[in-house]
Amino acid sequence: MIYLDNAATSFPKPEAVYRRVDHILRNIGGNPGRSSHRMALEAGRVIFDARESLARLFNIPDASRIAFTKNATEAVNIALKGLRCRAGDHVVTTSMEHNSVARPLWRLEREGLRVTRVRCSKDGFIEPRDIKRALTARTKLIVIVHASNVFGTIQPVAEIGLIARGRGIPFMVDAAQTAGAIPIDVREMNIDLLAATGHKALFGPQGTGFLYVKEGMELDPLVDGGTGDMDAVLEMPDRMEAGTINTPGIGGLGEGVEFIMEKGIKGIREHEESLTARIIDGLTAMEGVEIIGRPDPSTRVSLVSFNIRGMDPVEAGMRFDKEFSIMVRCGTHCAPEAHRTAGTYPQGAVRVSPGLFNTSSDIEEFLKALRAMAKG
Ligand code: ALA
Repeated sequence: MIYLDNAATSFPKPEAVYRRVDHILRNIGGNPGRSSHRMALEAGRVIFDARESLARLFNIPDASRIAFTKNATEAVNIALKGLRCRAGDHVVTTSMEHNSVARPLWRLEREGLRVTRVRCSKDGFIEPRDIKRALTARTKLIVIVHASNVFGTIQPVAEIGLIARGRGIPFMVDAAQTAGAIPIDVREMNIDLLAATGHKALFGPQGTGFLYVKEGMELDPLVDGGTGDMDAVLEMPDRMEAGTINTPGIGGLGEGVEFIMEKGIKGIREHEESLTARIIDGLTAMEGVEIIGRPDPSTRVSLVSFNIRGMDPVEAGMRFDKEFSIMVRCGTHCAPEAHRTAGTYPQGAVRVSPGLFNTSSDIEEFLKALRAMAKG
């Protein structure tokens, strides 16, 4: 089996992640932040350590500003709904967003929020000056995807962050496809809200994610509960983490982050970029293949979406699995807006996304399979 669907979820995980989850489930087992016995305290330590690891990776000054969530979608929803936008307030976003951003905004629009969707170029790039032009006196937030899960294009987050900072407008980045894959520095990039998932390039288990909320910003919680009296005002991170959280998952996520820091994000990136370059070269050499986005691998994260003339992408995905044991993802990738931008809606595309544990021979096998399929 060849797994090339790391943009959906990374597989396999580093050995240390498996060991850590197993260890926590077997030996720690207490409920973090609840009881005062040693198992609960140790569980609290697991959560504390994972928060600290994330803070180091993203240069977050105060780890307590990181709230764990079950995925990036939940993190985005907490931020968008917790900002307390009123009817007539305005949000600037792009035509590249995943439904995790697009759908809550669409719902809030029905309640009176005004939303400007800045159009990206057909090859997937957001022009910072177009973001600037869209701002109004009532703009309460700029929210953009760092790299689309369809195009992979890495957006100029630092430039947009500067614009946001200059206008005093909060800036949120959806880093589902970039956290762990490319460097992110919330201070350098002027990111006020960073939403990410744990189970992709951060190598954590599914059911983990987080939201960073800059010091001084207060959001309403999406889920109420937690400790204290009814009218107690909870501080970050408890404010956003009502209920027992996923200690084994978060411990595994922390281990994934430590693995990345030990290995070095630069080396991981170089490996993934070289696999992406080979995929693009191979696809470009084939007739009837259309790649979504820019061909330059240095402008994108490790994913390539494409279509083969005359072949339905969903059928192609099934054939990859059935005939060649190769796992890829097909369809619209929960991102119809991005596919509209690419001109590939509603059929979508085939997406191949190598990860750290793939080798160049995996890519050659994939290209061989594709050539065989294209022949009929
Ligand atoms: N959003 C995920 C993907 O792109 C699941 O596959």
